[in-house]
Amino acid sequence: MSEKKKFASLSAPKGVPDYVPPVSPRFLAVRDAFIRQAHLAGFQHIELPIFEDTNLFARGVGESTDVVSKEMYTFADRGDRSVTLRPEGTAGVVRAVIEHNLDRGQLPVKLNYAGPFFRYERPQAGRYRQLQQVGVEAIGVDDPALDAEIIALADRCYRSVGLSGYRLELTSLGDRNCRPAYREKLQEFLFALPLDEETRHRASINPLRVLDDKRPEVQEMTADAPLMLDYLNDECREHFETVTGLLDDMGVAYTINPRMVRGLDYYTKTCFEFVHDGLGAQSGIGGGGRYDGLMQQLGGQDLSGIGFGLGVDRTLLALDAEGVELPGTERRVDVYGVALGAEAKKRMAVVIHQLRGAGVAADMSYGDRGLKGAMKGADRAAARYALVLGENELAEGTIAVKDLAQHEQVSVPLTDVVEHLQKALQNAL
Ligand code: HAM
Repeated sequence: MSEKKKFASLSAPKGVPDYVPPVSPRFLAVRDAFIRQAHLAGFQHIELPIFEDTNLFARGVGESTDVVSKEMYTFADRGDRSVTLRPEGTAGVVRAVIEHNLDRGQLPVKLNYAGPFFRYERPQAGRYRQLQQVGVEAIGVDDPALDAEIIALADRCYRSVGLSGYRLELTSLGDRNCRPAYREKLQEFLFALPLDEETRHRASINPLRVLDDKRPEVQEMTADAPLMLDYLNDECREHFETVTGLLDDMGVAYTINPRMVRGLDYYTKTCFEFVHDGLGAQSGIGGGGRYDGLMQQLGGQDLSGIGFGLGVDRTLLALDAEGVELPGTERRVDVYGVALGAEAKKRMAVVIHQLRGAGVAADMSYGDRGLKGAMKGADRAAARYALVLGENELAEGTIAVKDLAQHEQVSVPLTDVVEHLQKALQNAL
């Protein structure tokens, strides 16, 4: 390898976004706002492994799904075990609930997670190979009120960051009692169509997926396909009607999309997706649903569950598309110290340290930048206050506090500056 080649610059893997300032504070603001809403609704944090036994996803998510059959980052570790970078969170949560007997206590078990997931998808705007989700799972109670709570919570997550230009789509996929009969009806319909070999094969493995085919000619052929909503048994229909009724009562707007197809196999009954039209092709900003057979499939009790995964990356893109500001995310620190001269610098370092100790976000200029250069630092940090300390102030035992929003300046005794700023910041809120 040539010397030049050896030191060629490296970039992040294809399809993997970096979040660096000034975008990274927006990323945290969205992620943390979602987590806060989940905690407000009584969900507790679960920290999941980033990689799991490959079988977990094969069994949990479904071998016929694109996620499992084409998109997993699977490799043998040094002990020759097949492990997979988690493509989603639900299977891992259910595995952990079973492993730690959480389902033997108070039900539902309500858990919240956040972090990166990995899918080897074809990268494009809003479609990444490392994607970030905030998710919740409520396990152990088959109550439609829980479905409504979860859906309303997802809606509130988006509203809490100021997003509004999305719609909520809803359907029911039935359960193990009514779905098989529907599946047969759908297959009967599909097999009578002049489908190509591959689509016919898909119809035999997972007929619902054919309804999701984006090719206009297939869409046209399947326009009159039988729909699950028309084949729900009484229990599933009542369940779905209770969910929609509760959403009406809560004022959560939705549209019914009987042709919705989720990319994971575990779903039963209520399924939903949040769709934003400002993102181009990758319009799903979040989704979820009920998964009543999953726990048993993973070796646990036969308990039901429901949850969602909200895409943080796509929510950020949607916020950009809507031009929504996230308050406070431009501000790096509240207070920025500018000291002129060696002695003043030493004193400023102590003041900044004390400010941080008092819970005030503070930073100062370093190096010999002069007043003008150092004040630029205050601007770049979008600080609310600048502290200026020169030889004269130091001799007098004072410090200048500049209010950068009001363009006012006061002189404060050095000994009082921490308290002064604490109060000023509280009033400025
Ligand atoms: P999902 O629909 O596969 O569901 O993913 C949830 C959200 O993650 C999507 O709506 C989207 O916003 C985001 N997402 C997925 N793939 C990508 C990607 N390649 N690039 C960027 N964002 C992406 C699940 O993962 C389920 N575990 C959700 C759930 C929880 N269902 C029940 N409980």
